[in-house]
Order: sequence, then structure tokens, then C-alpha cells
Amino acid sequence: MVVILLGPPGVGKGTQAVRLAAAIDGEHISTGDLLRAARRDGTELGKQAQGYMDAGELVPDALILDLVRDHLASMPSEASLLFDGFPRTTAQADGLDSVLSGVGRQVDRVVLLEASNETLVERMSGRRSCMDCGAVFNVHLNTSEIEGVCDNCGGPLIHRIDDEPDTVLHRLEVYQEQTAPLVAHYEAHDSGLLRVQAERGMDDVYLDVRNAVGV
Ligand code: AP5
Repeated sequence: MVVILLGPPGVGKGTQAVRLAAAIDGEHISTGDLLRAARRDGTELGKQAQGYMDAGELVPDALILDLVRDHLASMPSEASLLFDGFPRTTAQADGLDSVLSGVGRQVDRVVLLEASNETLVERMSGRRSCMDCGAVFNVHLNTSEIEGVCDNCGGPLIHRIDDEPDTVLHRLEVYQEQTAPLVAHYEAHDSGLLRVQAERGMDDVYLDVRNAVGV
């Protein structure tokens, strides 16, 4: 099964993807997490991506498609795949179709998470992310047991540079301009697209996401 979680920054794609990946026994592929890992490791890709990410811009399609192709090549060809934050442009969506069709696969389900801009800004302003394992917390709703320390691995929790208020607003504009067109794209695609209202508690959202995916 190949599933895409689509939606604006801060809507809860990563939060839902961690649970859904376990439910479908699949690989959670977050291009944001892969890029942050590349930055931590100081790779050439990480250096190239840094400026775009900190400014809230999209990293160029060619870099992202290479990253995803390389990552897919490292996993079993029949693995269930759960994409989070990818694709983000129609060029990336076409690139994904082409990579999948090369191995006789296709996108099976696309789930769009939706919430108001006010909610997205609030979630991102309160988000705290682990520098070591990437786990996500929130100072308002989903706090870590010890402030500033990751419950999972004990690593330091930080406020992402791109979660600063001005950058958040820019990321929302970039989403509208470059990623929102994927909604119509997938509504017309063989996979279709199912919408989930994400402005509710995490467990309620999760139930609807599971129903949408059919697991
Ligand atoms: P990326 O890391 O993918 O960021 P994003 O898509 O902007 O998504 P976020 O990680 O901000 O949010 P999310 O929807 O996962 O929400 P989360 O679960 O954390 O990308 C970062 C950058 O990398 C991009 O700007 C770009 O530069 C680059 N990039 C990445 N992929 C790219 C691509 N394909 N092409 C080009 N460039 C790319 O939740 C947010 C907060 O809300 C958390 O604190 C969480 O605890 C809380 N929360 C979640 N759900 C709920 C709920 N139901 N109720 C209350 N709080 C909740």
C-alpha cells in the first residue's frame, strides 16, 4: 500500500504518520525529517537545503526527487509506504508516479488533513522537536514529562527555526501557492483524495485517518 498524508504545515501530518505507519506496518517517509537528518550529518544535500528550509521555501524538486529515489532504493520493493510532506508540488507528484510505476506500483490513498490558519500558527508556535530523534511535542497540549527533554530518547527539545512566526506565515503562503494545487491533482488521480478535519483531538483525527486509509 502507498499512502500520502497531504496538508499544510503544522496540521499534524507527522503526528498522525507515526501511528499510521505502525498500523499499516509501513515505512514512514518524511522528506522534512530526511532533510533535517542530512543537515545534522553535514551532507552536501543538507548544506544545499539549509537556506531554503530556514527561509520557509521549498527545496528544489530535483533535490527532493533524488532524495526520495535514493531512500526508496534502500528499502524492500514491496514495503508499504507512508509519505508525509511529500509530494509538495505537481512535479514531485509526477516524479513519484514515475518512480512507483517503474516498480509496478501506484499511489493507493491520499488523505488531506485540514485546519484553519489560526490553529496551524498556534500549533507551530507551541511545537518542540527533539534534535536527536525528531519526536514532536507541544507546550500547550502534548508536553514532555521534563521540560526541554525528549521523552523518547532524552535528547534536547528545540523550537524549529522555521517555526518562528514570520517564517510560519511564509510557509503557509508557500503551501497555498505550490502545494494546495495537489488537492485538485489528486482528486482527479486514480487514487482519489479523502479529507479529514484535523482541528480536533489527536485520537479523533487518527480514527478518521485510519478509516480514510481503510485499515
Ligand atoms: P516539514 O518538516 O515537512 O514541515 P511541514 O510540512 O511544514 O510540516 P510540519 O512538520 O511543520 O507539520 P506537521 O503537519 O508534520 O505537524 P506535526 O505533526 O509536527 O518540512 C520542513 C521544510 O523542509 C519545508 O518548509 C521545506 O523547506 C523542506 N521540505 C520538506 N519536504 C519537502 C518537499 N517535499 N519539497 C520541498 N521542500 C521540502 O504537528 C504540529 C504541532 O501540533 C506539534 O507540536 C504537535 O504536537 C501538535 N499537534 C498535532 N496534532 C494535533 C492535534 N490534533 N491537536 C493538537 N495539537 C496537535
